[in-house]
Amino acid sequence: PLSNAADVGLWSARHIVNRINAFKPTAERPFVLGLPTGGTPLQTYKRLIELHKAGEISFKNVVTFNMDEYIGLPEEHPESYHSFMYNNFFNHVDIPRENINLLNGNAPDVDTECRRYEEKIKSYGRINLFMGGVGNDGHIAFNEPASSLASRTRIKTLTEETRIANSRFFDGDMTKVPKYALTVGVGTLLDAEEVMILVTGHAKALSLQAAVEGSVNHMWTISALQLHPKSVIVCDEPSTMEL
Ligand code: GLP
Repeated sequence: PLSNAADVGLWSARHIVNRINAFKPTAERPFVLGLPTGGTPLQTYKRLIELHKAGEISFKNVVTFNMDEYIGLPEEHPESYHSFMYNNFFNHVDIPRENINLLNGNAPDVDTECRRYEEKIKSYGRINLFMGGVGNDGHIAFNEPASSLASRTRIKTLTEETRIANSRFFDGDMTKVPKYALTVGVGTLLDAEEVMILVTGHAKALSLQAAVEGSVNHMWTISALQLHPKSVIVCDEPSTMEL
């Protein structure tokens, strides 16, 4: 493990930069990057912006797909994942707007929206690198405990535990936290060429244990990564205390 969350941010940002630069993306052959929200990847986004400003990376030929979005929050709500991504990353780098893909949590027909998303991913062949975090209960994206490990993009009901954890972004007020979300499935994540999961802090220790020492188990959806040929967990010291 790395010693702290700042080092996890730096390591993961450098990994993304190295992968994109080695791929030498063009407009015809873009690098396809899957992205998460949450507190954990904030350090990574900060570092990516710094590396972009230092001239080490361009996102001109990078296409992104975010992993999830709340249902029912207006796009411009400060806590929508849409706002999060523009405020913390997209507005600070040279990615063209048309290269950015986010699930629409206000789509009139969520099933059509989820199908559209899966088809758009498929139109690029596959996601080259999917970065993610993990919930305290081992969920990846919003694939809550008991999600099918073959699942595709769909609507999920958030668990009480997840809503409590995320209430810190909603003035600690549970009534403001959405009850549903759209999320890529575990199957969608496993289709990526490479998956990189960031794990920081002692609250994630049981999730990390389930990810690497537990059996493949749909109650800890992060454990599905054991089935992936190329996945990397970037963790800090405090998150390893149950290993
Ligand atoms: C949410 C997101 C996940 C994220 C998790 C942990 O549930 N849908 O993608 O991994 O929160 O977030 P944090 O990094 O803030 O602990």
